[in-house]
Amino acid sequence: MSTIQPHGGILINRYHPETSFQHIKKEIILDATALSDLELVGIGAYSPITGFLNQQDYQGVLNEIRLSDGTVWSLPITLPVSHATAQKLSTGEQVRLTYDGDTYGILQVGDIYTPDKRLEAEKVYKTADSDHPGVKKMYERPSVYVGGDITLVRRPDKTAFIDYHLDPIETRKRFKDLGWKTVVGFQTRNPVHRAHEYIQKTALETVDGLFLNPLVGETKSDDIPADVRMESYHVLLQNYYPADRVFLAVFPAAMRYAGPREAIFHAIVRKNYGCTHFIVGRDHAGVGNYYGTYEAQEIFSQFTADEIGITTLFFEHSFYCKKCEGMTSSKTCPHTSEDHVILSGTKVRQLLRNGELPPSTFSRKEVVEVLIKGLRKHEENELKGDSNEQTAQYYLAR
Ligand code: ADX
Repeated sequence: MSTIQPHGGILINRYHPETSFQHIKKEIILDATALSDLELVGIGAYSPITGFLNQQDYQGVLNEIRLSDGTVWSLPITLPVSHATAQKLSTGEQVRLTYDGDTYGILQVGDIYTPDKRLEAEKVYKTADSDHPGVKKMYERPSVYVGGDITLVRRPDKTAFIDYHLDPIETRKRFKDLGWKTVVGFQTRNPVHRAHEYIQKTALETVDGLFLNPLVGETKSDDIPADVRMESYHVLLQNYYPADRVFLAVFPAAMRYAGPREAIFHAIVRKNYGCTHFIVGRDHAGVGNYYGTYEAQEIFSQFTADEIGITTLFFEHSFYCKKCEGMTSSKTCPHTSEDHVILSGTKVRQLLRNGELPPSTFSRKEVVEVLIKGLRKHEENELKGDSNEQTAQYYLAR
């Protein structure tokens, strides 16, 4: 096993498919985010969390970035229900957690509380602006939270990337089998462009292996769909990475776009998957102009290295420099921005959607070809009115 300790010391396992639930009458219907959170709690990816946060832990997370026992935890993992549902629940009872008519979990109701969502937005997202995609989604979810421990009784069916869904216990074993003592985790919700490749490979110069762990849960609709991204990772790895030094698996969580707070969450979760190191570059998990370029790095200074428990590798904004004739960053390049190839995500998406090639100094040719082809296919399906186009749907469709 990888030697790194899970967050809180123990890898949680609350997946017990043998548990009977037929006698439990009451149910809470989950949304896609709650379903993915249920699974990730169950398999220990969110260790030491054992369920949806109770009010005390929720307040600790909001105000101190800690659970009530002092363990660092940055995102509130909550189960929102409507007033009508909340009124029917009592603390101490068991409730089935269902999606699309099937039972996926059992909740032991710990407490029922009404959050101040504006406060949650300000604390977690640093803005109450409902244009922020994470805030918007949080506002749209029902307004009462139910806390309590869960048991996962059924895994959501995987219809896509079946071979790339691994639980923390499996990735830990895999890293050990590969002989990797140090593993750097890389979170992404994007295709891997040259800047990503540069920071990954810079890290790979000093650690044994790279765990490429793209997030494939719910993302905002203008992010590149997960299936297209997965294909782009494959061509990139085949052509430009040593096969024995990279391991690819998906991270089926929803994206929150919570910038600094989400960077801590992403790091801790990757520790649970067995990584010893984690990359945080520019504007990690950011969106629009809500966060400063390096805020997601700075937030880590509020904690001791032991409290986080995974070594963070911080990278400056990286880009191709025409004068240096290579990938570089503001830390190592003496030239001016006129020599730098920097394209915003929006600009790149625009180019791709118009079938135009971003320069190879920005993204590898093989990657760009996959993206253009994939996006075209998605657009055609959208025109045909295929409602299965949401990225998250892959995860739930059967
Ligand atoms: S994220 O929302 O998943 O963080 P993205 O996929 O763009 O977004 O980023 C993945 C990782 O690469 C993050 O750690 C991010 O900070 C880093 N990153 C992205 N672009 C650059 C860049 N040009 N220079 C340095 N780091 C970058």
